[in-house]
Amino acid sequence: KNIVILISGRGSNMEAIVRALEAEKWPARIAAVISNKADAKGLLFAQEHGIPTAVVPSKQFASRDEFDAALREVIDSFAPNLVVLAGFMRILTAPFVEHYAGRILNIHPSLLPLFPGLATHQQALDAGVVEHGASVHFVTAQLDHGPIVVQATVPVLPGDTAEMLSERVLVEEHKIYPLAVRLFVEDRLSIKDDEVVIVHAV
Ligand code: GRF
Repeated sequence: KNIVILISGRGSNMEAIVRALEAEKWPARIAAVISNKADAKGLLFAQEHGIPTAVVPSKQFASRDEFDAALREVIDSFAPNLVVLAGFMRILTAPFVEHYAGRILNIHPSLLPLFPGLATHQQALDAGVVEHGASVHFVTAQLDHGPIVVQATVPVLPGDTAEMLSERVLVEEHKIYPLAVRLFVEDRLSIKDDEVVIVHAV
């Protein structure tokens, strides 16, 4: 299976996926890591691991439609079976998302459907929840919605700052994202009624 990973920055989730794929010998390869920012740190890690990289600079496009069309062309040149959004900080248009329906995953740092959007850790602190976490979900046209594949929870502790919470959540992200991608490349995921993800036993 060909996996294309999209990043915008640090790329620690991308790194966790690459390391798990290498260590566990998944039936898959990372065909490319693509960033909308030329200075995304994660590009260096990908290059060091011999993974092809590409940059589609979002700020050079006049509209969302033009950017998404260009991005789609670059992604498709790598013939992906799966597109993985890993800290990709762009809202994607409906035609783009529909083109990859059922083969595009995202990780969001909250227990969806709670706290979609940005600053999720601060949102969780402001709401006073005692548990927080991360979700891997199939991407649909509605931002941070779509069928959930796997979630991980962490406690919210007294005195937590958004940064402390984000670090605790990130540790879990690095476990559940590789797990979800592995299930996909092993053909163990299917979607029912565009809502429910079924995980098949081996
Ligand atoms: C992660 O917390 C991810 O859930 C969110 O953005 C962050 C990206 O981190 N969407 P990284 O680039 O994978 O290190």
